[in-house]
Amino acid sequence: MIRQASRSEHEPNLGFELADALHWHPEPDTDLLFSNAMLQWLPGHRELLAGWLDELKPGAHVAIQVPGNFGSPSHAVMRQVADGAAWAQKLSGVLRHDDVVGEPEEYQRLLLQAGYQANVWETTYHQVMVGEDPILDWVRGTALLPVKAALDAEDYRRFEDDYRVQISAHYPSFTGPDGTKVTNFPFRRIFMIGRKLG
Ligand SMILES: C[S@@+](CC[C@H](N)C(=O)[O-])C[C@H]1O[C@@H](n2cnc3c(N)ncnc32)[C@H](O)[C@@H]1O
Repeated sequence: MIRQASRSEHEPNLGFELADALHWHPEPDTDLLFSNAMLQWLPGHRELLAGWLDELKPGAHVAIQVPGNFGSPSHAVMRQVADGAAWAQKLSGVLRHDDVVGEPEEYQRLLLQAGYQANVWETTYHQVMVGEDPILDWVRGTALLPVKAALDAEDYRRFEDDYRVQISAHYPSFTGPDGTKVTNFPFRRIFMIGRKLG
């Protein structure tokens, strides 16, 4: 993403830099800190965010979105399968829990206590998914990545099979208007906007 952005046509005052957010700090004159769907990957993101909020100057803005779906069946079923007798030994501690991302009020409190004006809300998008295993296809790019990293190829294929069998009951598919198979995939996201007072 960063490489493509650097190569794209863009305003001359824009620069792009790849960095590990775990070790990143805003420049003192930062006007806006924007983060989309990233904080959930950072262990201890609440403390990191509190540090960034502290470092920003008065008048600076933050705009952040995190997925609020770690308690949804797509993730809860994955944890159940991983905790089952067949996988517990190999996958112990690999998957994160449903509190990996906080509730909206937690982020609201964080912003307010850091001296920010806060506007926090959540939205559930009812995504229309297509294909035979749409939920599995989706989580392959996100929540399943740590499982894939922890297992060899054959075990990972077997884990996917176990997950596939269980997950379809939670997301029944039906026939859409043009005869294709469609599935509803509710996806909750948490948004926060803040401006530092003072
Ligand atoms: C769901 S994607 C969102 C990407 C992009 N922000 C967007 O909205 O399309 C999650 C992103 O978090 C990035 N990420 C995960 N851990 C990171 C870290 N420690 N430092 C920086 N980026 C990280 C991943 O590389 C990935 O691009």
